[in-house]
Amino acid sequence: MRTLRDIPALRETLGEYRQRGQRIALVPTMGNLHAGHLALVEAARRHGDVVVATIFVNPLQFGPSEDLDAYPRTLADDQDKLAQAGCDLLFTPDTAMLYPRGLDGQTRVCVPAVSEGLCGGARPGHFDGVSTVVSILFNLVQPDTACFGEKDYQQLAVIRKLVEDLHFPIEIVGVPIVRADDGLALSSRNGYLDPDQRATAPSLYRTLCELRNALEAGEPIATSLETGLARLRESGFEPDYLELRDADLAAVTATTRDAVLLAAARLGPTRLIDNLTLTLPR
Ligand code: PAF
Repeated sequence: MRTLRDIPALRETLGEYRQRGQRIALVPTMGNLHAGHLALVEAARRHGDVVVATIFVNPLQFGPSEDLDAYPRTLADDQDKLAQAGCDLLFTPDTAMLYPRGLDGQTRVCVPAVSEGLCGGARPGHFDGVSTVVSILFNLVQPDTACFGEKDYQQLAVIRKLVEDLHFPIEIVGVPIVRADDGLALSSRNGYLDPDQRATAPSLYRTLCELRNALEAGEPIATSLETGLARLRESGFEPDYLELRDADLAAVTATTRDAVLLAAARLGPTRLIDNLTLTLPR
């Protein structure tokens, strides 16, 4: 696997792939890779002839009081994992390479409506930062396909709309959540949890499973969500939100069948997110 840090070298290598008629699959990441990311690489291998991964801890998507500085940087380890997973090329630019005019001078991309509420409500500006960096990466790599995890359900919805609205000729592939044996969705932020918090963390998933069962059995939505919030608090979480939306993240109506439960909750300073899709009864 080759690792490139600058845009001209990236363009040259991508040009060689294209000349050979190879289909390019992109896996954007912020590094500190775990099995969830490697599932993205696996999916990319199925959808492309060459896999290009990116590692860039994107300052534009972190709020002023968030964990940008603490975010784990583990490049050597990540390179080994990507190479073993069959990635062909890693692009890992620095901030000055992607944002040469600095963050304040940077043109931004904003995807309306779907970026609002949920994580967009709790983290103002977060999805503008994601949409901006993903648009830049799409422009630089011009992949045929790009893979994103379904754990970040709202992010995936934002990126699907971005691709439609900006007419990027890119197929977006959503990859199912990878969970630890106890159900905890894999996340780079799980590494922040101390042993007690790590033992508590799977109750986020368990609460979502209980709620899904209740809702699929026809229990009323509002009281089920209140019970779910109380469960989370009893377990030691401070919930940011626990919501039921339709599969496109619009409000649930009497005719909604395909729905998704979404939660974000803090355990100490660590913010965890998770979601479960479900089918509401008629
Ligand atoms: O999901 C992530 O790791 C990031 O939000 C992404 C898509 C790589 C953009 O920085």
